[in-house]
Amino acid sequence: MMAKPAQDQPYLQVNLLDKEFEQISRWVYQAAGIRLSNNKKALVSSRLAGRLRELQFSSFQQYIDMLTHPKHPLSVVERQTAINLLTTNETFFFREIAHFDFIREVILPLKAERKLRCWSAASSTGEEAYSLAMMLAQYHNGPWEIVGTDINAEVLEKARNAIYPMLRADNIPKAQLHQFCLKGTGSKVGTFKIARELRRHVSFRQANLQQLPDDLGQFDLVFLRNVMIYFDAASKERVIANVQRQMKPGSYLLIGHAESLNGIANQLTLIRPSIYLVA
Ligand SMILES: C[S@@+](CC[C@H](N)C(=O)[O-])C[C@H]1O[C@@H](n2cnc3c(N)ncnc32)[C@H](O)[C@@H]1O
Repeated sequence: MMAKPAQDQPYLQVNLLDKEFEQISRWVYQAAGIRLSNNKKALVSSRLAGRLRELQFSSFQQYIDMLTHPKHPLSVVERQTAINLLTTNETFFFREIAHFDFIREVILPLKAERKLRCWSAASSTGEEAYSLAMMLAQYHNGPWEIVGTDINAEVLEKARNAIYPMLRADNIPKAQLHQFCLKGTGSKVGTFKIARELRRHVSFRQANLQQLPDDLGQFDLVFLRNVMIYFDAASKERVIANVQRQMKPGSYLLIGHAESLNGIANQLTLIRPSIYLVA
């Protein structure tokens, strides 16, 4: 008997089979370098389930076939949607505050008056880039620019909009909140927007750390935080080599406190936990 089409079964629960999970894991590893461990199966299933319903697919296999089909008319768009759904984008303002203290106390005095090009290399929704922007606007005397990049197109859209729920303002120091964040009114009540004065220094573009675009340019300061935790050793090594190529001599690389570059940071000098200098 033929299976009923999914649209006739609105509450159908589609099971993610082990072999389907393996196919999705392989695909996301090739696309983004992200290693999904076996305990992520339920997470993957729940993140993609809504998409299956929207596409009226009755099995994950149908979805995988579409995703991996080289000529399917929707596969390019769907691959981006799948990446958007499968990446973890948690972030917040002034995350790992010791890095911001180090920038203010050590890096900015050394680079006084010089032009600073900074990169938030897995920017997610932009909180990291705008936290840095607040610091530079307040403490750096020279010109500056921040580029935020991410593989997830949806978070980049949010980053460009620069509108955040008021609850997200908790970590922003009061003085900077008043100076650089505009309280929403009318339909925007309960939100704030990053002031134009900061936004004009900050741009966002899509980039896969596994394969960076040629025209990214060179940077003086790079945040590469809380993204390598999703990579295996080979992806991490590739990403560090790629990122190093974009760094000027005398530039700084900041990684997440829970991350390590043991054995792969050959041209980098560890100067504080999670802070590296490019010779
Ligand atoms: C947990 S967020 C970290 C955000 C911010 N750096 C922080 O520390 O708060 C990780 C981000 O890395 C992005 N990401 C994952 N794999 C990537 C890749 N191959 N290239 C670029 N970005 C990637 C995800 O889309 C996600 O937005």
